[in-house]
Amino acid sequence: RQIQLVNARIDKDGHKHFMAKEIAEQPVAIDRALKAYLGDDGQLALPAELDFTKIERLTMVACGTAFYACMVAKYWFEQIARMPVEVDVASEFRYREPPVSDKTLALFVSQSGETADTLAALRYMDGKAQQIVGLVNVPESSIARESDVVLPLHAGPEISVASTKAFTCQLSILLLLALRAAEQRGLPLPDDMPADLRALPGLIHQSLAGETQITASARGLAKAQDIIFLGRGQLYPLALEGALKLKELSYIHAEGYASGELKHGPIALIDEKVPVVVLAPRDALFDKTVSNMQEVMARGGKVILVTDAEGARIAGDGTHEVIVMPQVPDTLAPILYAVPAQQIAYYTAIAKGTDVDQPRNLAKSVTVE
Ligand code: G6P
Repeated sequence: RQIQLVNARIDKDGHKHFMAKEIAEQPVAIDRALKAYLGDDGQLALPAELDFTKIERLTMVACGTAFYACMVAKYWFEQIARMPVEVDVASEFRYREPPVSDKTLALFVSQSGETADTLAALRYMDGKAQQIVGLVNVPESSIARESDVVLPLHAGPEISVASTKAFTCQLSILLLLALRAAEQRGLPLPDDMPADLRALPGLIHQSLAGETQITASARGLAKAQDIIFLGRGQLYPLALEGALKLKELSYIHAEGYASGELKHGPIALIDEKVPVVVLAPRDALFDKTVSNMQEVMARGGKVILVTDAEGARIAGDGTHEVIVMPQVPDTLAPILYAVPAQQIAYYTAIAKGTDVDQPRNLAKSVTVE
């Protein structure tokens, strides 16, 4: 199996970069990931040994983009399964030496399954936590081998250094885990879950069509020196992910903030030269995000609002640009809004002429500390 993998010819399939190919593959990759853990009858089909009834706490540890997937999942586990959740980057977690109760489920998320800090954090939890679960894209990886339960991502090989389809597959499976936890704890599931999830590949496919508009706005963004991303609630980690992707690919300084934190510092940075990307589906927190956005506009900031049609109708006035996304059940929004975050970074990097698949100083898999 390994030999086959090494010899497999992976090409760009007509795309200019692996990243473009991997962004475009997301509907298929997510469909595959969902089919692996969701039965034809719409019922969850997760390994029987994954038991959330006996645990009191979930600890999730990861690095980079995988860490942001965990941050989103924290909202889901808390809101849907009413479980206490701790999330940390592996490089901090491993040296904090936190006390661990044996009623803890430890979940490690990693595309490669080889990230040194994540593996070290796993080894720290081994023998302390009730169960070690690995969510990895490479089923033969070290993290997979050392986990009690392995959940393969089924994203397919990811070549571009910046993680895209692995991220949205991580999110999709983490949501299934939160639903499983809620079910086992006797709680009602939100929206029409898990059946709603089946619409996800189609919605992701629709959102890929925003590409033409994003290509045009990226030419403007490429001229900026600093870019701010804002999001609230489950979209806050997406603001962090959007900023991370943008800085790693285009080398433009970008920061993601929780919209509510704007007035505690970052608003001092706002002027007409600082574009602000606001990720705001029309959900329960929309009005609050819009009022933060208006604070930006009142100071001359150029807002690029990423929202749905209803959000655009209500709050589009005065913005520099609106990127209209498909309507989506609230719970799924962070998965869908990953697409414009990826496309903004990709097309800004193209406009700047940087090396998209192999950005300077970065590695796909960080196996040293
Ligand atoms: C590197 C990659 C990132 C990735 C991170 C974690 O920094 O460049 O794209 O998110 O490692 O990698 P992992 O394989 O553990 O998900």
